Parts: sequence; structure tokens; C-alpha cells
Amino acid sequence: MEPLRVPQVESLRPPHPQDTALLRSAGSCSFEALPSWKMQAVHPCVSRRSLLIAGGAGLCALALAGCGGGIDLPELTGVASGDVLVALADVPVEGGYLLEVDGRRVVITQPSAGTVAAFDATCPHAGCTVRPTGDGLGCPCHGSAFDPATGEVREGPATSPLIPVGVTVRGNDVVLV
Ligand code: FES
Repeated sequence: MEPLRVPQVESLRPPHPQDTALLRSAGSCSFEALPSWKMQAVHPCVSRRSLLIAGGAGLCALALAGCGGGIDLPELTGVASGDVLVALADVPVEGGYLLEVDGRRVVITQPSAGTVAAFDATCPHAGCTVRPTGDGLGCPCHGSAFDPATGEVREGPATSPLIPVGVTVRGNDVVLV
């Protein structure tokens, strides 16, 4: 079985002092800091290859290196091309599903019924974890927004798109390409 190939993310830029202050003033990089965002629930169930649910506690201490905002994510390990990542029914239409695949956070979206996309969930701005919102993908740390179909930046401060991860629909499941 081939190991999962999720593209590497560029080295994270050191945070601007104002960014650090912003994160601290928000208390954490949780979505509670941005109450206007309509968050899609992160589905807690695990698929057949899941080994454990990752604990989220303490992750905000690592906010600028990939903060998870204290959420628990389904975690898959040993994933190879053709393996199921999630049931299509568990990915909300116009929403998304966040999980950890071999140590990398990946967000799977379903921009329209039956059409899926996936991206490395690491925000290209400063490394927080991008998540589904009611109308796209967003970063809780500084408010960057991304297109759920293409990963392109809709709103900064991020200037680079999300890195795509190859997925497709096979039957009732979303599988890794
Ligand atoms: S880390 Fe700054 S907008 Fe995402």
C-alpha cells in the first residue's frame, strides 16, 4: 500500500507581532472568537480505517503551528490511494468535514451535491486550521476565507490558496485519489 501523499505545506512564516496579540486577545484561536460564523458541525464518527479520535486539548498552545481550536477530529492512519476517507453523506452539502489523515489535517467539502473537493486544512497565512463555515472555508485566527470548491482565497490576510488533496466519489464514499 502506498502511503498517503498530502502535499507539504510551505514553511510557516513567523507571526507578525500584531497577529500574536490578536490571537492572545481572542483568548484562543477558537471559532467562539468569531460568533458570526456559521460553523458546520465536525462529524465525530470514524470510518473503518480509523484508529482513534485525536484529543484536541492543548492544541491552541500551538496556534501558529496548526491550531485545532481544541476540537476532536476523526483520525485516519495508513491511508493509501483508493481508501475511503468518509461517507459522502457525512460531508454536508455546501459544508465540509474536517479530519486528520496520517497526521495532516484535511478538510473535505461538498460544494454542490455529489461534487467533492479536499484541501490541506493548514491556513497558508500562519498555520491555523481552516474549517468549514456556512458558506465556505474559513480560518479562525485572522479571518481568511477560502472557496470550498477551489481553495482560492476569498478574503485575506492569506494570499495563497489552500493546497488541494485529491479525492473523488466512489459509490457512497469519498475516497483518496
Ligand atoms: S492563520 Fe491567519 S488567517 Fe489563518
